[in-house]
Amino acid sequence: ERPLKVALLGCGVVGSEVARLMTTTADDLGARIGARVELAGIAVRRLGRARDLPVDPALFTSDAHELVSRPDVDVVVEVIGGIEPARSLILAAMENGASIVTANKALLAEHGAQLHAAAEKHGVDLYYEAAVAGAIPLLRPLRESLVGDKVKRVLGIVNGTTNFILDRMDSTGAGFDEALDEATELGYAEADPTADVEGFDAAAKAAILASLAFHTKVTAADVYREGITQVSASDVASAREMGSVVKLLAICEVDEARESVTARVHPAMLPRTHPLAGVREAYNAVFVESEAAGRLMFYGPGAGGTPTASAVLGDLVAVCRNKVNGGRAPAVSAYADLRVSAMGEA
Ligand code: HSE
Repeated sequence: ERPLKVALLGCGVVGSEVARLMTTTADDLGARIGARVELAGIAVRRLGRARDLPVDPALFTSDAHELVSRPDVDVVVEVIGGIEPARSLILAAMENGASIVTANKALLAEHGAQLHAAAEKHGVDLYYEAAVAGAIPLLRPLRESLVGDKVKRVLGIVNGTTNFILDRMDSTGAGFDEALDEATELGYAEADPTADVEGFDAAAKAAILASLAFHTKVTAADVYREGITQVSASDVASAREMGSVVKLLAICEVDEARESVTARVHPAMLPRTHPLAGVREAYNAVFVESEAAGRLMFYGPGAGGTPTASAVLGDLVAVCRNKVNGGRAPAVSAYADLRVSAMGEA
């Protein structure tokens, strides 16, 4: 059996863990898939940077476009982040017949509908479990397990960096900057932490969650957004005195008639007895409320290289299995045209 060839785009915090785990767990991945998976190449911005990885140095290339256009590439794993060049690379890879695994929340939140349409047109898979809540299986449950139910609400903590910062401010009285530096060192923060602390990262995740949960198109621009930069040490301290804690929440809801959707991200005070109040450090937790299932809670590591790589590898196995047995990921293109608004004024 021919091995499946995987092109890896990006070798940062997540990409290097994906490369490492693909190499060290190759036998297990091969057994799960029914065929071996091999790296075809790793596209990086700068060649020659020392990388302590158990992979052949000849795999590194600075020409991502050439890599995704190679005729033998079966799967492209994109962990560069940002809209361009990630979007063009993914579209070119799909045209070349490759299935896509990506962790790119900004891209999915803005161009999800276009990417799903392209995947369908070219008969390839598009999975992005790692884009929301790191290691926690959440998108596949919404897309597959709960697809026979009617989701009413998705609510939770979806940004590890801000939860880490607010948790440190609450438990140690640390200042905002000191806590942010620590989150960055641990590999939780985005390349530009503005995306975390201003709520853009959580808003992109809310858009993805709302789109999958309510089978409609919600983009990051549709999400009301307020970050945590205005949350002061004294706000956190007075919340504490009142038996409460400050958390950055993402809230996505559909109205009873299932005609309009709202999505918002903002800091909120929660009583310490609330289950979300106990979510510490860079952990994430998301409640999903649906008509038949009732309330479900998803909890776990929401950021960091290794946990996020776990989600990427899960998707990689899924798309490789489909390549082996001719299956396809469930379509998400049956969109309902719901009204979308930021704060429920619709
Ligand atoms: N910067 C993100 C976070 C990484 O802190 O949650 C995971 O998406």
